[in-house]
Amino acid sequence: MIYILDTADIDAIKHCNEYYPLAGVTTNPSIIAKEKSDFWTLIGEIRSIIGPDKMLHVQATEETAEKIVEEAKMLRDRVGGDFYLKIPICEEGLKATMMLKKLGIKVTMTAIITPAQALIAARAGADFVAPYVNRLDSILSDGTRVVTEIVEEFKLHGIEARVLAASFKNAEQVHKCALAGCHSATVTADIMKSLISHPMTDAAIDGFKKDWHEVYGEQKILDF
Ligand code: G3P
Repeated sequence: MIYILDTADIDAIKHCNEYYPLAGVTTNPSIIAKEKSDFWTLIGEIRSIIGPDKMLHVQATEETAEKIVEEAKMLRDRVGGDFYLKIPICEEGLKATMMLKKLGIKVTMTAIITPAQALIAARAGADFVAPYVNRLDSILSDGTRVVTEIVEEFKLHGIEARVLAASFKNAEQVHKCALAGCHSATVTADIMKSLISHPMTDAAIDGFKKDWHEVYGEQKILDF
């Protein structure tokens, strides 16, 4: 499982890029709009924080295949580095994906709700498919089951597209996707932190500090 940060919050990206093994950043129009910033300044800042080698996924705003391709070329040239165009699954999106593959522009097909959508997206040439786990869970469906089925179908049919599970509200959803063999997860900074947090770990760290302090006081190994 590789971890990607699903935000355009510059402070969160700076923090997570420094402290976590981030493979990149994903955005979508809602995530970008939340920052109420100049688009190109924001995208430029994200790219400069994560550097050229990490993935940056930016979503199309156009709605016809031809315009999506135009937007993709502009984004590829201006975003630079390891760039992916996100496109929500729909007919125009599939057509755009097939056109973009010929141009060598990488695609993440997003807003995936069913395994059937994922298979067709992959056949059109998507490099990643992004199923929405929590949005499924919140309508009494089973998001991690959908991710599991996509992973299984891709294996069964020898499909190379990778599954980028998205829309998480808790660490358990991420864990279940990892168990299913899902290649990647994009999470908020809060979910990222929750993946390493545990009260028993905190208690263990406190115990180490207390035992050490009783014998060596404030001194640390560097002081010996
Ligand atoms: O990457 C897609 C993701 O941002 C959707 O998440 O929390 O809006 O369901 P959410």
